[in-house]
Amino acid sequence: MTQARSGLVFEEPLLFERSRPGRRGLSLATPEVPQADPADELEEDLLRDDVEGLPELSELDVVRHFTRLSQWNYGIDLGLFPLGSCTMKYNPRANERVAALPGLAQLHPLAPDADAQGVLALAAELEDALAAISGLDRVTLQPAAGAQGELVGMMMIQAHHRARGEPQRERVLIPDTAHGTNPASAALNGMEVVEVPSGPDGLLHPEALEPHLDERLSALMLTNPNTLGLFERHVEELSRRVHEAGGLVYLDGANLNALMGVARPGDMGVDVMHFNLHKTFSTPHGGGGPGSGPVAVREALAAHLPIPVIRRDGDALALDEDRPQSIGRVHAFLGNAGIWLRALAYVRALGAEGLAEVTRCAVLNANYLQASLSDVYARPHRQRVMHEVVFSDERQQPNGVTTADIAKRLMDYGYHPPTVYFPLVLSGALMVEPTETESLESLDEFVAAMRAIAGEAAESPETVTGAPTTPILRRLDEVGAARKPKLRWTPEG
Ligand SMILES: Cc1ncc(COP(=O)(O)O)c(C=O)c1O
Repeated sequence: MTQARSGLVFEEPLLFERSRPGRRGLSLATPEVPQADPADELEEDLLRDDVEGLPELSELDVVRHFTRLSQWNYGIDLGLFPLGSCTMKYNPRANERVAALPGLAQLHPLAPDADAQGVLALAAELEDALAAISGLDRVTLQPAAGAQGELVGMMMIQAHHRARGEPQRERVLIPDTAHGTNPASAALNGMEVVEVPSGPDGLLHPEALEPHLDERLSALMLTNPNTLGLFERHVEELSRRVHEAGGLVYLDGANLNALMGVARPGDMGVDVMHFNLHKTFSTPHGGGGPGSGPVAVREALAAHLPIPVIRRDGDALALDEDRPQSIGRVHAFLGNAGIWLRALAYVRALGAEGLAEVTRCAVLNANYLQASLSDVYARPHRQRVMHEVVFSDERQQPNGVTTADIAKRLMDYGYHPPTVYFPLVLSGALMVEPTETESLESLDEFVAAMRAIAGEAAESPETVTGAPTTPILRRLDEVGAARKPKLRWTPEG
């Protein structure tokens, strides 16, 4: 059993509170060579005599503060991280080494194309790999996150319809099992979002599209596997009907770790899709920050790819910005090269067979959890799952134990809580994604913790509703933290 890390002190004053007047981080000898006077170099209004209010500390104070904080953090390097939909999987160290190679990490972003042939070749290689994996024709590495990839995809779809003289095609159909970023991205692009209901089996059925298959249809935006961890097995028929009505099919391909190397979205009728490199290709999490969400498209949409596009003139590669039908620039330079280089290292290390094995293991691990826990936690859908499994608190509710309680209690067992209350279509959802990187032993330890909690919920519910017991701050005012965040410290408190 994983031990709760209760030996740690979960309380730490701010650096400002530790500050002592006159304490310094480092002291340097007075230089023997004459120093430039900043006043000679800078305009007067850019100079100030003193910086007020910054904490004054020794180097050791600062190192200890941040080391203690780092020990509070739960990360994939510490244990299984069951956060469904977020795919918290191990980031292989080899990828880090590759991205840090001086020839890549220190290349100046404004280096002329002729001096950057190596990195351009790597970008082109990853584009080709993603095209082969998706079954689509062209790829851009520009978007900085999955959600930005969605926005780029929607902009390209819109540009495609407009270029064909059908500007009225602005309606995007999105099933109620979609990831929340999908409607947000379509709406951000000024498109009309129409939610379509999934069936009782958690899948989208072709008939649900019927009322919307008209000249206003722009696209179906499908997450497959969907957020219930189920494969949308009507995808080919859904695509056929959308195409017949003049629309395009967008795939939220963030869950590609359930398909990669085994099935290709392009073969299922998908026209545009994004990849979440952090979810599928083991790069560190970006959370919309320094991530990467490449987009793949059919050739028919290639003219609208964001600039720059890598132009391949024989052996010489160049960044092409002269593309009148492009949606424009969505990121500086070549996207987040430090991230997509890691993904390329992962693809190269595993090869085609290795990537297919990743998929098989991700699906096997999720089904192992489903089979090991379905007798104690309710699951509304009977199908086998893909890469993640969604339970509910239906069996625990009669004893007053909710999904939130189960998640908090898991902290006492030494785990980060799983994703809770998502997807919204299932009341009390508790979504677990083990990922392919977990061993049988670590899955068994997690199953033991989940089963122990189910036992407590039945026999001593207050143990679960009173959790967590290990941290000093136990149940926080989560709504207050989100609605009225206190982000600024003042000496008065
Ligand atoms: C299914 C799905 N779609 C879209 C996203 C959004 O990706 P990102 O967080 O990179 O913007 C996620 C995030 O994990 C996801 O799981």
